[in-house]
Amino acid sequence: MIKLLLHHDLFLSALRGDQRCETAIHHALKERRILPWALGDLIQRLSFAGATQNEIESLTKNLALIPLNARLSGEALALGGNFDQALYQKAGEAFKCRFFVSLKGSKLGSLEGMTTDALMDWKEPLPDKVEFLNLTYPIHAVFNQVDGWHMEIIQNTAFAGGKHVAAFEKAFAEYSGTGYAVGVGSGTEALLFSLLAMGIGPGDEVITQPNTFIATTEAIRQAGATVVFADVSRGTWNLDPVAVEKKITAQTKAILPVHLYGQPAELEPLLALCEKHHLELLEDACQAHGARYQGKKVGSWGRAAAFSLYPGKNLGAYGEAGVVTTNDEALAAKIRMIREHGQAQKYYHDIEGYNGRMDNLQAAAVQAKLPHLEGWNNERRQAATWYKELLSGLTEVELPEVAEGAEPVWHLFVIHVPDAQKLHEYLKTQGVFTGFHYPKALHLQKAYEFMGLKEGSFPNAEYNASHLLSLPMFPELGKPEVEKVAREIRQFFA
Ligand SMILES: Cc1ncc(COP(=O)(O)O)c(C=O)c1O
Repeated sequence: MIKLLLHHDLFLSALRGDQRCETAIHHALKERRILPWALGDLIQRLSFAGATQNEIESLTKNLALIPLNARLSGEALALGGNFDQALYQKAGEAFKCRFFVSLKGSKLGSLEGMTTDALMDWKEPLPDKVEFLNLTYPIHAVFNQVDGWHMEIIQNTAFAGGKHVAAFEKAFAEYSGTGYAVGVGSGTEALLFSLLAMGIGPGDEVITQPNTFIATTEAIRQAGATVVFADVSRGTWNLDPVAVEKKITAQTKAILPVHLYGQPAELEPLLALCEKHHLELLEDACQAHGARYQGKKVGSWGRAAAFSLYPGKNLGAYGEAGVVTTNDEALAAKIRMIREHGQAQKYYHDIEGYNGRMDNLQAAAVQAKLPHLEGWNNERRQAATWYKELLSGLTEVELPEVAEGAEPVWHLFVIHVPDAQKLHEYLKTQGVFTGFHYPKALHLQKAYEFMGLKEGSFPNAEYNASHLLSLPMFPELGKPEVEKVAREIRQFFA
């Protein structure tokens, strides 16, 4: 994937009938491995040159425009020389563009020069490095829209609450197939506020899995309730309903399955347990935006579900945010109250709550991104299919299993190998970056020492933690990258 900065002279030439320029621009706009950028005054320049709205739209669709703000102009002025050139150089460098495409094809500062012919001939080199995560592609797709909205929010000083929060909540509820969505400050708050709104607190037990991010159990304990762990199933690494049933006591109030790595938990048997024992089901869907179980989206199965909108998630904001989905109107109203200091009316507090609102800037970012989520999830699915094809038959590698009826969204692609640390180190030397999600099961963490749970308590969760390796995974991860990862893994075991 390359980021290009396109000079306005290409667009003006295209407007004057230069076919080569027009073809090159359209190539850059359509080729999914190219992220084209231009300077923020491009539309103005085209309009001054007499372009019609249709011509402008055709030449700028999928182009991201670098805002010409005071900082950039100041840096260009300080650079001296031709101001236009300096502005291009500073903008291209600030936005980490690799090539500067112009009629002459000259180099500009640290930007390599490229002509339209070179652009048409450009072939992506075989990757020598594969990052674990790359967020630039989703940001490029929504850049102009979010930039415009953010400017407006700042102008209107509409930071807290605001129209984007309401619009995102409505869109996310529709997307999830639920009656309500409530925006909050993080996925952790989404979990905590859901538990509090359900009235779960001291003396109550909540059953969850030990192989999750600590936010799941932090929320249970911060609500005042007791964490009860149950083991997971080998292969899907999600909560095992049989193990859960054995942990149900008279104090149990809720089951909290995590849709780990973007794979839906076994919701049907878990829901049956909840019905049989009169328990709440709260889904931790922080890693699973858009995943389906038996054709129905996660987030619409439990009494409520918590989603994280942390930047690295399948749907990520430009900072911290989270959202709760539910079909229960009263529960949604309670969560709204809890997120805002226990008030339904300003300065009239029915209960003590939290400062846990979603802010308008974050809401604008996820509102713009939501329509792209299905496409990005499909790209993750494609990458997962390539991984499975290219790693199949390797006896040392356990591939993730997909439970019957589950349609994962591959937030992470996690394999299990005999010595994950060694493979991680080796891959790093070959330019492939991997992670561990998560390297130590929660019941063995210092924070939970007081539970007195020893190694061997949850064999599958412990096996997961000690053998897992998360491979690079993000939308737009290309086949050459997946091939490189698979090749290096095969090489390691050869
Ligand atoms: C399974 C799980 N639960 C909860 C959270 C907490 O979300 P946030 O970081 O938005 O608070 C995360 C985020 O990493 C997560 O992966």
